[in-house]
Amino acid sequence: MISGRHINVAGDLTLQFSSAPSAPNAPGAQPETPAAGLRCWWFLLNDIQTGARVLDVGCGHGEIVQELTRRGWSAVTGVEIDPELVRQLQGQGFDVRLGTAEELPVPDFSVDTIICSVVLPYTDDARAIREWARVLRPGGVVNMTTHGIGYGLEYALGRDGFLHWVYGVRTLLNTIVRWTTGRPLPGFLGDTVCHSSRSLKRQYAETGFRVVYEKDVESVWGFPRFICHRLVKDS
Ligand SMILES: C[S@@+](CC[C@H](N)C(=O)[O-])C[C@H]1O[C@@H](n2cnc3c(N)ncnc32)[C@H](O)[C@@H]1O
Repeated sequence: MISGRHINVAGDLTLQFSSAPSAPNAPGAQPETPAAGLRCWWFLLNDIQTGARVLDVGCGHGEIVQELTRRGWSAVTGVEIDPELVRQLQGQGFDVRLGTAEELPVPDFSVDTIICSVVLPYTDDARAIREWARVLRPGGVVNMTTHGIGYGLEYALGRDGFLHWVYGVRTLLNTIVRWTTGRPLPGFLGDTVCHSSRSLKRQYAETGFRVVYEKDVESVWGFPRFICHRLVKDS
């Protein structure tokens, strides 16, 4: 998938699994289908209070915005960097705003729940996490998923061809470079990283978040392919 200025192999992986669970499950419950499991909707859409003001950061094609609206939430806002996706979703009547995860176009303390589904790998993550803290009310919740190291490994094994191998190798290389230098590789080489729970938790602690639930989804050579974290902003 090419989205905005990002070439996003993950998007292809995500989009091919479009079935959604019909109702939320308890955290830790088995997803209904492998598809729903990989997208982590059983986690992302779980435990959102009735009437909560929800912000979907990096909402992409708006599937989560649409699903929450279908389930009865009326104050659901999406933010997306890709103007074409924003235009399409606005045309369908959804409150989706053009903006970035690093500078969310919403006021301070105006959100109860943030959903951030596989967006952090494409951002300046420290700034994005600080923005969650700015826009959430005290006690607000973040349901986020991101790539673990297993995500890069899965591609780097090259089972699905040369292009996927290249994508996996550069994702892992960029991850190592960012960890060691604090900076991404230049240009498209640096557009995706894998996260580790440990380094994310350091950033959460510095920003005033507590992890209240965590789960690794699938494993490649013992490394998680996706990481799910539920955070609560300290009061
Ligand atoms: C892997 S897709 C996930 C889309 C959606 N959250 C989902 O789960 O279906 C990543 C999305 O993040 C968006 N994105 C990338 N960088 C962004 C940024 N800095 N701020 C906001 N959105 C961004 C991309 O345009 C893309 O729609």
